[in-house]
Amino acid sequence: ERNSKYYNYTLSVNGKAQKHGADYSKDYLTDVLANMSLDFLQYKSSYQPFFMMVSTPAPHSPWTAAPQYQDSFNDTRAPRDPNFNVHGKDKHWLIRQAKTPMTNSSVEFLDDAFRKRWRTLLSVDDLVERVVKRLEVRGELDNTYIFFTSDNGYHTGQFSLPLDKRQLYEFDIKVPLMVRGPNIKPNQTSQMLVANVDLGPTILDIAGYNVNKTQMDGMSFLPVMEGKLNSSSWRTDILVEYEGEGSNVSDPACPLLGPGVTECFPDCVCEDSYNNTYACVRTVAPSVNLQYCEFDDNEVFVEVYNVTADPYQLTNIAKTIDQEVLERMNHRLMMLQSCSGQSCRTPGVYDTRYKFDPRQMFTGHSWRLSRLRQTMK
Ligand SMILES: *[C@@H]1O[C@H](CO)[C@@H](O)[C@H](O)[C@H]1NC(C)=O
Ligand SMILES: *[C@@H]1O[C@H](CO)[C@@H](O)[C@H](O)[C@H]1NC(C)=O
Ligand SMILES: *[C@@H]1O[C@H](CO)[C@@H](O)[C@H](O)[C@H]1NC(C)=O
Ligand SMILES: *[C@@H]1O[C@H](CO)[C@@H](O)[C@H](O)[C@H]1NC(C)=O
Ligand SMILES: *[C@@H]1O[C@H](CO)[C@@H](O)[C@H](O)[C@H]1NC(C)=O
Ligand SMILES: *[C@@H]1O[C@H](CO)[C@@H](O)[C@H](O)[C@H]1NC(C)=O
Ligand SMILES: *[C@@H]1O[C@H](CO)[C@@H](O)[C@H](O)[C@H]1NC(C)=O
Ligand SMILES: *[C@@H]1O[C@H](CO)[C@@H](O)[C@H](O)[C@H]1NC(C)=O
Ligand SMILES: *[C@@H]1O[C@H](CO)[C@@H](O)[C@H](O)[C@H]1NC(C)=O
Ligand SMILES: *[C@@H]1O[C@H](CO)[C@@H](O)[C@H](O)[C@H]1NC(C)=O
Repeated sequence: ERNSKYYNYTLSVNGKAQKHGADYSKDYLTDVLANMSLDFLQYKSSYQPFFMMVSTPAPHSPWTAAPQYQDSFNDTRAPRDPNFNVHGKDKHWLIRQAKTPMTNSSVEFLDDAFRKRWRTLLSVDDLVERVVKRLEVRGELDNTYIFFTSDNGYHTGQFSLPLDKRQLYEFDIKVPLMVRGPNIKPNQTSQMLVANVDLGPTILDIAGYNVNKTQMDGMSFLPVMEGKLNSSSWRTDILVEYEGEGSNVSDPACPLLGPGVTECFPDCVCEDSYNNTYACVRTVAPSVNLQYCEFDDNEVFVEVYNVTADPYQLTNIAKTIDQEVLERMNHRLMMLQSCSGQSCRTPGVYDTRYKFDPRQMFTGHSWRLSRLRQTMK
């Protein structure tokens, strides 16, 4: 019933079921994946190009650490950033239902989760080290690209939400991304915007395939890593989307809550609902660092953050920002929600090549505009 386990699971190995129990030296999933990866590297044919993807459930719940790491990070707790335990009063309804201040038991729970997550990552650290060393021993390290990334961010206490990953804020949408490989200078950091949709095109590009021949929405960031591109020739915005999940029956542990919500723990604070459905334009241009989001909920709620002035997203400026900026961002959102392939790579709102065409205002798929159209009928 859980989608992540560390013991007592079944793997499909080339279509054959492989059952695992709960003996650390044989079954701890992160280590099993490490051993299988080393075997793959050892027994693949030498000198042929290869692709290997290793996905550990760690640090997903239930956060089961390896025995030797169970006491690590005893003094670590979740960061107390300026948005920790702060009531998001100007935010969408799911944030407004959170309880501020959180109870002490909620804070203890989230600090404990934070520590446990770090403990599970120590085994991931071991996996990475063993894979890199194996490549080195085989003489393949200098000719191999290694990407290290994740599929979502995480919050622990921000805006009084105990813990989850389903919000539009920086803490949930930013993921680590580290790459090493041929022609990539070590220890450099790029501020250019890349997203998970770019991983496929980048890997195809490395393999020598012309990405223009695909219908993929993303872009290869290989030239960015090789220092062949600067920000004036790279995108200035990306689309962020999420479709909320919610149970259609009330949570028996939280009888006061109606149906439509889910992940209501601890303290019956819900982390998701079917109407936690949003789409955002995240803009990072030389002069602007902005986020614009629309919700598909009864309030057609809008959130806007000036991330330059407000990196912790404490103040929603949707009601005070220049109306023209709102219209442009809404226009761009519609475009990014309906684009495909090459049309996703047109200039963003803060790109000097951007053209605002008000006649296009009513051709897209924005929820806000589809409702506006309904009310105008
Ligand atoms: C694994 O399954 C065994 C047998 O059902 C059970 O005793 C044990 O507690 C389980 N361990 C974990 C970590 O799930
Ligand atoms: C992984 O391989 C090492 C070295 O061969 C071995 O000691 C360890 O028990 C293995 N771990 C698992 C979970 O299979
Ligand atoms: C860490 O905490 C656990 C549980 O409270 C305890 O058993 C362990 O001894 C502690 N370890 C260290 C190194 O302090
Ligand atoms: C909650 O924790 C705070 C800070 O640690 C403490 O001052 C307060 O007394 C605690 N409240 C309860 C009800 O335990
Ligand atoms: C990498 O960059 C950081 C920050 O710029 C610097 O502190 C560190 O010494 C650098 N490390 C190496 C190995 O160059
Ligand atoms: C892909 O298309 C872009 C834009 O049309 C063009 O600038 C680029 O040269 C093309 N790349 C290849 C490898 O054909
Ligand atoms: C960016 O690159 C273009 C050509 O590739 C160059 O003309 C321009 O001066 C560069 N801009 C910066 C800020 O380096
Ligand atoms: C809830 O959804 C499930 C799956 O779609 C359906 O089988 C069930 O009848 C629904 N229950 C209610 C109370 O609507
Ligand atoms: C979202 O859905 C929940 C659960 O059905 C409901 O209580 C809430 O009023 C809705 N909020 C908005 C803004 O649509
Ligand atoms: C964002 O904040 C910065 C720094 O305070 C300011 O210069 C800029 O004009 C603001 N941008 C918008 C769009 O409000």
